[in-house]
Parts: sequence; structure tokens; C-alpha cells
Amino acid sequence: MDEKKLFEDFKRAVVEHHEFFKNSIPLIASENVTSMAVRRFYLSDFGCRYAEGKVGKRFYQGCQYIDVVEDVAVKLTKKIFGAEHANVQPISGVTANIAAFFALAKPGDKAFSLSVPCGGHISHHRFSAAGIRGVNVTDYPFDNESLNIDIDKTRKLALKEKPKVFVLGASLYLFPHPVKEIVEIAEEVDGKVMYDASHVLGLIAGGEFHDPIKEGANVVTASTHKTFPGPQRAIILSERSLAKKVDSAVFPGVVSNHHLHSLAAYVVACMEMMEFGKSYAKQIVKNAKALAEKLHELGFNVVGENVGFTQSHQVAVDVSEFGGGDPVAKMFERINIVLNKNLLPWDDLSKTENPSGIRIGVQEVTRLGMKEGEMEALAEIMWNAVNGKRSEDELRSEVVELKKEFTTIKYAFEESEAYAIVESFLNGL
Ligand SMILES: Cc1ncc(COP(=O)(O)O)c(C=O)c1O
Repeated sequence: MDEKKLFEDFKRAVVEHHEFFKNSIPLIASENVTSMAVRRFYLSDFGCRYAEGKVGKRFYQGCQYIDVVEDVAVKLTKKIFGAEHANVQPISGVTANIAAFFALAKPGDKAFSLSVPCGGHISHHRFSAAGIRGVNVTDYPFDNESLNIDIDKTRKLALKEKPKVFVLGASLYLFPHPVKEIVEIAEEVDGKVMYDASHVLGLIAGGEFHDPIKEGANVVTASTHKTFPGPQRAIILSERSLAKKVDSAVFPGVVSNHHLHSLAAYVVACMEMMEFGKSYAKQIVKNAKALAEKLHELGFNVVGENVGFTQSHQVAVDVSEFGGGDPVAKMFERINIVLNKNLLPWDDLSKTENPSGIRIGVQEVTRLGMKEGEMEALAEIMWNAVNGKRSEDELRSEVVELKKEFTTIKYAFEESEAYAIVESFLNGL
């Protein structure tokens, strides 16, 4: 092993990663950037500590201040989402989903989930969280026209199969799922509704998407780092009657220590969303619609023309005519536009390597201050790219130029305020 070379490669990778993202348009729908205030907490001593168990009932000494942080995190989470109960300990969305399946189902029970091409996440299926609990998953009937769950067919199937868990929420998530209708069906068959809000948590916090709790979902799981601009971790919201089951499924079920530096950072992200969430979420949806409309106008086959393209942070485009999602996503990466290939509802799993679609998320560029005008400029670059109208070098320069003015994080506390917040936070402990 050439250790010197390994170290040089490592150093270069770290520097070049940051340089690449500085000069790129980040459009991965599951990512976001945290503010400097959030990062300040992320780098605190909390990251070196352990806190197993519940607030006030820990197994190690030294947790008295951490207890305060977790208590604040729970209170803010309940306030923002209007939840009866919040568990803020899961360290990722998948961890939260494993815990939710343990709380809601026994091995051998049935669940309904969206298939992966229709937007379901792998953790809703047997490959991951559902399978770990031994739950047998049936895909919801899906309507490719409305791009949503077919309620009539779902009801018929549910009366026959009697699933214990109805999973809603998705990774490819353009339009709100029919929570109320699914809750009614679930009640008929004595099932529970588990809504995975990972993608749309920030939109829900900002009042720009439907509210799954108000609409009757029993459990809401969510990662905190997609449209919600927090550090990478997750939460589980539930009604009071499920609190004990959820809490014990989380600890000792799937976490021991729960990454306290990111918990402290999450508190700051909650404060930012209380302050700026409304305007941030509004602009995200405006930007997604503007991008979808311009891409469509230019000639892209944007998914959902008959239903208004999107109501979320995402836009999906069928790029089969340009060779499919794989070569198109790789070409965009060469010109510094970062997005992912994606299965679409009309794909089967054999198309996983090269699906029909690409998925675009505008939550991060919105946080960097881009508005409708930039969405139009971006659409033009993308159209010229797929049609080979300019060289990749020229297109990359256009991307770098477009990005130049958008390198600071908006909808966040100013850095000077951030330090004041940090200070008063620490003084309060
Ligand atoms: C709907 C949904 N749930 C869960 C997850 C997993 O979250 P994490 O990566 O935090 O485990 C994702 C990831 O993108 C997702 O899209």
C-alpha cells in the first residue's frame, strides 16, 4: 500500500469535493445544506458523548445538559408539526422506518407500500425496514394519469388482504397522497397509517404541503435533511396512544446513543424553520413549478403535464428519448449539474440501472437564493445539454456562471446572529 499516495488522494478528494459543489447546481431531491449556525452546533463536544435512554433516565452520567437539548428538540418538534408525541432519537430515515414497523406490526403482518417506480422508498419494502420486521408488502394500485394511489382499487384490495400498516409518503413525491381516504380504509380493516415525510418535512413545516397529522396519519416518520434543512438524522411523530411503542422501538430497538451533536444542530434548524420556514417552503414550490413549466415549454417530457407537474420540491422528467436516466444524469454531472436517475411509474424494476427518468429537487438551490428566473436559465442549459447544442465545456462554464451569485445560505440566521444564538443557548444550559 502506498500510504503517501493514499493520503494525497484523500486530501485532493476533500478539496475537490468542496470545489465541485461550489461550482455546481445541486439538484438531488434528498439533500440540502445546513446553515453556519447549524454547523456550529454540529461541531460541538456533544458529538463526543453518549446519552442512552430517555431524558432524565439515562444510563451514563454527564447527560444533564444533553437532557436539556433533547427536551428542547422534542418540544420544538411537537410545536412545529402539531404532534402529540415526538421521538427525536432516530439517526436516519431508515432507522425511523425500522422503528415504526416494529411499533406497528408483528412478523407475518401485511403492509401496503408504493412500489419503488411509483415513488416508494426501499425501506418501505422487503429489502429493508419492512423486511427486517418480517412484514409482507403488497404494492398499492397506482394510477399513472393522476400520479397517485388508486383509492377504489386500494379499498377493494385492503378489504381482502387486511394490511396492518398502510405506508404513505415517497421518494419520488410530486403530489400529496390521499391520507384521509387511506385513514378511512385503514380504520375499516383495523390497520394503522404510517406516513414517511422524509422528502416533504420542510414543506409541511412551512405549510406548503398537506398536513398528514391533521389528516389522521397515526405515525409520521421523517429524515430531517431534505426539504427540512437540518443535519442528517430523523424524527418520529405519533399520537399519544402509540408513544410507548414508538419509544421502545427506537430505544433500545434501533439506537443506543443517538448522535448528540446532530441533535443540537437539529434544534437550530428547527428555530430557523420557525423563523423562515413559511417563505422558504413557498419559494421551493414556486421554483419547482417554474422549472417544470420551462422544461416542458422547451420540449422536455416532464412527468405530470395533465396534473400541473408538481406540488412539491420535485420535478420528474422522462428522458427515454435521450437514452434514459443513466446516461443523461452522467452527462449532467460532467457539466456540473448534480441530479439522479430515477425509475418512473411506468418502469419495471428491470430498468433500475437505466430507468426512464431523472428526478430534480430544487430545495437546495432555493436555499441558496435562486428564484424563478434562475429556474428558467437552468432549464435552458439543460435543454441545450441534452440536445448537444453546445460543447460540454461551454455548458459547464454557463453552469459555473449561473452558480456564482448563489453561494451563501438564505432562510437562515445571519452568521453574526448565529453566534449570539449559540452563546445564549450555551449560557442557558
Ligand atoms: C421517503 C424516504 N424515506 C426514507 C429515506 C431514508 O432516509 P435516510 O437516508 O436518512 O436513512 C429516504 C432517503 O432518501 C426517503 O426518500
